[in-house]
Amino acid sequence: MPSLGISSINRHPTPSVSRSVARPKKDLLTVASLSTRQLTRLLQKAHALKKKLQSGRPSRPLIGKTLGLIFEKPSTRTRVSFEAGMNQLGGQALFLAAEKIQLSRGESLADTAQVLSRYLDGLVIRTFDQTTLEAWAKHATIPVINGLTDLCHPCQALADLLTISEKKGRLKGIKLAYIGDGNNIANSLIEAAAKTGMHITVGCPSGYEPDQKIVNWAQEASSETGSRIEVTQDPLVAAKEADVLYTDVWISMGQEREQKRRLKALTPYQLNERLLQIAKSGAVVMHCLPAHRGEEISESVLDGAQSVILDQAENRLHMQKAILIDWLGGSTS
Ligand code: CP
Ligand code: NVA
Repeated sequence: MPSLGISSINRHPTPSVSRSVARPKKDLLTVASLSTRQLTRLLQKAHALKKKLQSGRPSRPLIGKTLGLIFEKPSTRTRVSFEAGMNQLGGQALFLAAEKIQLSRGESLADTAQVLSRYLDGLVIRTFDQTTLEAWAKHATIPVINGLTDLCHPCQALADLLTISEKKGRLKGIKLAYIGDGNNIANSLIEAAAKTGMHITVGCPSGYEPDQKIVNWAQEASSETGSRIEVTQDPLVAAKEADVLYTDVWISMGQEREQKRRLKALTPYQLNERLLQIAKSGAVVMHCLPAHRGEEISESVLDGAQSVILDQAENRLHMQKAILIDWLGGSTS
């Protein structure tokens, strides 16, 4: 029987980052960081994966891969669609509630990221500051995917592009009206619009605008794609002739203490029948969910015939499977 002494181990050292040496690491932190080629490929792949699943021919390219999910905020869709998606692709997902790992007892993010990189093939992080997400990406030697930050929610916006292209047949030239709080969802939709030639008008009150740096970047980037990026305080101007009406909660996770002030400022921006009537007749209504009926959206509009919220939620699964294959499966471009 061969000896398994220290000397024999030393003669055949395991590479210290064995899982990452085969290919350069790539992260998915924002929509803006994606190339047009990556975006197009993700949309095509997500569409193909959806068809495959529907026809009962699932593919399992991630056998043996493990995805970790570290969430500092609650989640239904993001967590479950990543876990189910990983399972369908033949891999496994580990949900690591931030308060249940040593991070909550003072272990550093850098140590945690480096240790987890020795076990896992990818990480989905849901956190508050974008800088925390960037620190995970810096210290992990495996791909890091943004599962929502205060600044943006790229997986949601990418899935929404799939939904809009399915419902409207294209993205270029489509007018999306985002009504309400200029939050993480609005920011990622702005980036998605600028990348694809979709027009976006955000209708929001003063003080609740989307991130100014993102708006500036998108307005510059749109010169290449032809999209129009606008912000107005008039919800009627935003909704007029829109192909897509989109809204999100007025009080995002972490903003609970601002509830009173937010409700007051945002009440005139409810997505309701009045706005639906001035959009195009075939306009679709979107909401990333979770929703608060009677706050940011009326019950009749959220549950009405033009609402596509469930297809929208389903598409998180298909788009994230495309992301997982691309980010964890070995493609580098
Ligand atoms: N839309 C979305 O990200 O939902 P969860 O917060 O439930 O993940
Ligand atoms: N803007 C919301 C999105 C939830 C998916 C939040 O950050 O809470």
